[in-house]
Order: sequence, then structure tokens, then C-alpha cells
Amino acid sequence: MKIITIIGARPQFVKASVVSHALRNTGITEILVNTGQHYDDNMAKVFFEEMGIPRPDYDLGVGSGTHARQTSESLVGIEDIILKEQPDGLIVYGDTNATIAGALAASKLHVKLIHIEAGLRSYNRKMPEEINRVVTDVLSDLLFVPTEVAVKNLAKEGITAGVHIVGDVMVDALIKYTQVAEHQLDTLEDLGLASEQFNLMTIHRPSNTDDDQRLQSILEQVSKSDRPVIFPVHPRGRKRVNALMEKMSDRIRIIDPVGYLDMMLLEKHARFVITDSGGVQKEAYLHKTKCLTVRAETEWVETVRDGWNQLVGDDLAQIPVLLSAYPEPDNWSEHYGDGHSASRIVDIIINTLD
Ligand code: UD1
Ligand code: UDP
Repeated sequence: MKIITIIGARPQFVKASVVSHALRNTGITEILVNTGQHYDDNMAKVFFEEMGIPRPDYDLGVGSGTHARQTSESLVGIEDIILKEQPDGLIVYGDTNATIAGALAASKLHVKLIHIEAGLRSYNRKMPEEINRVVTDVLSDLLFVPTEVAVKNLAKEGITAGVHIVGDVMVDALIKYTQVAEHQLDTLEDLGLASEQFNLMTIHRPSNTDDDQRLQSILEQVSKSDRPVIFPVHPRGRKRVNALMEKMSDRIRIIDPVGYLDMMLLEKHARFVITDSGGVQKEAYLHKTKCLTVRAETEWVETVRDGWNQLVGDDLAQIPVLLSAYPEPDNWSEHYGDGHSASRIVDIIINTLD
């Protein structure tokens, strides 16, 4: 069996790190296509190296650009590859422009479309990711969903065929690579940090980083933290953050994006995580680190329901309030699976497409 896998952005490298190995271990021929949406060494290469992701068979090199440019260049490149390789199926992950490009290319050429991390919804169509998810799910033949909530979200849109609840492959990656990081790295010592004595922040959504006033307000509120805040800055906000930091207290410590192994140790040992990332909210929950999400809504509703994640929305003054008095979480469950999602996915692909 031959499967094409589409990746392109940081969260997709993490997901592919476990699924690509699981596919290849069963003898499936995987053709890995990197659209090249993320290309800085610390946004791409470091993940391939640390996580042993196989070398892509095709690199489309689309880089940065508008949504239409990124999506259309990926679409044209993926169509050519499908025509040449004649795969039995095509895998897309999550909700980026690489995802929707792969979905459109495969479905129009009648190649079975496999969506990993299907069924997530923020119900906010201002997010480009929400559009990518909705379109990809409607076109998919096999939908691998992490949670019961995702099954219900799909059912509300009339999608019930081909839906499989398998857990989240990011749990597989987190379990595996946190252990590796603990054996190999001294991230905290290297950064002069002690466990629980720092907070970790990542902010990269356009709604938070493209507007100077909003970004400044976030940084001002986070600066009121009583401990240092480590902030690996995504390149989207780099220039604006650097300019604004000149006016801020030195509470926030700016660093370049870190590799996944360092990130696991930072998330695990932070007192609080402050983020607008989907993946980082979920990882904070998995590491049992309390999280403040600088958004009005989340796809990962279980984290909020259990009290490990508080949505700050537009009330940014809540940030210092929560950093000094965070309500104790109520509950913690294996909502996102047991760390064996990738092998479940591969079994279902083999049974369905063979
Ligand atoms: C993309 C995804 C988003 C995901 C995020 C993960 C879409 C629509 N968005 O957003 O869902 O949460 O990746 O990190 O696909 N840049 C660099 N170097 C890089 C990559 C980006 O300098 O290696 C800069 C460029 O200025 C670029 C900007 O970051 O214009 C934004 O990058 P882009 O890939 O368009 O979107 P992300 O914000 O990364
Ligand atoms: N991540 C990382 N280094 C960083 C920031 C994030 O390794 O400096 C990891 C993070 O742990 C997660 C993945 O990148 O596994 C995707 O997160 P991102 O916030 O880029 O995307 P999102 O999940 O919001 O789509």
C-alpha cells in the first residue's frame, strides 16, 4: 500500500514524528511531502533531527505568503505528486494551509483522504484554521478524531461515516519524547531556571500578534508575573515583540523558538503556561501544568472543563489575577488517549484501504 503524507508546519512535524514511524513499521510505503510552510531551522529542521522524522521525498518550498498563495502553491505541487505517485490514500494533519491543500488535491483526484485530528471546532470562522478544518472534514473518507466531543461536532455537521475515535497522536509524541528529553537534556539548568519557579508563554495567533495594541496589552499584563516568564517567540510576532519589549519590564525573557525536547521540559516544569496555541494548551494539560489561554474559545474544551485551562479572552487583566490565584483544578482524565493512537490509526488504514 502506498500513502502520501502532507506536512508543512511545526505542529505537523510533531504529529508525523509518531505516525510516519508507525506506517513504515507495517511495511506501508509512505511518500512524505513537506510543503515548506515553516522553514527556519528552529521551526523545521530541529524537529526532523530530534524526532528522527524521515527525510521528505518532496519539498515544495512554498514558504511564507498570503493564505491564497501558500494554499495554491501547495495544491499545485501536491496534485503533481499524486498524479505521479498514484497513492492509495493521502494523510493530512490538523488545520493548516498544508491540510486544506492536501484535502482539495486528494479529493478531486478521488484519492482516499485521511484526516488525523478531525472534528475539532472553535466555532470561530475568523480563525483561518476553522475554515481549513471544516472543509477538510467534509471531504475526508477516514476521520481520526481524538475525543467524544469531536465525534459530536462532526455529527452536528452530518458527518458520521468513516469516523474513528483513536485518541490524539500528540499524546504518543509527548510520552515518548518527554522521556528522551529527561535523559538527554538539561534545559532548565541551561536556562538558569528551577522547576515551578518560572512561567512559559507562547503567543502566535494573528488575532494576538498582528495588532500592536493587543500584543502590548498582553505583554504588559504578563509582565506582572511574580516569576520570570520564558517566551520562545514564533517568527510571526518577532519584529513586533522585539520593538515592544524595549518598553517592558525585564520579567519576560525572550528566546528563539525551541526544539520539541526542550519544549517538553519547559512545559512540564513551568508553574503556569500562558498561550494561544492549540497544541500547547493540550500539552500543558497532559503535563498537569495549569494554563491560561489568551483566546475567547478553545477546541480543547476538556482542559477547561477539568479546571486546568482558563480562557482569558479579552479580559487581559485576568492574567495577573490568575497567575497569583488560580482555582485548583477539579479533575484529570485520559481524554486524549493512552499514547497508542498512531498504531490504532495504522491498523484502521490497513483494514479499510487494503
Ligand atoms: C501556521 C498555521 C497555524 C499554526 C502555526 C503553528 C495556517 C493558516 N496557520 O501559522 O494554524 O498554529 O502555523 O506554528 O496554516 N515565519 C518565518 N519563518 C518560518 C515560518 C514563518 O519567518 O519558518 C514568519 C513569516 O513572517 C510568516 C509568518 O511567520 O509570514 C507566519 O507564518 P505562517 O506559516 O503563514 O503562519 P503561522 O502563523 O506560522
Ligand atoms: N513547540 C516547540 N517549540 C516552541 C513552541 C512550540 O516545540 O518554541 C511545539 C509545541 O510543543 C507543539 C507544537 O510545537 O507540540 C505546535 O505548536 P504551535 O503552537 O506552533 O501550533 P498550534 O498547536 O497552535 O497549531
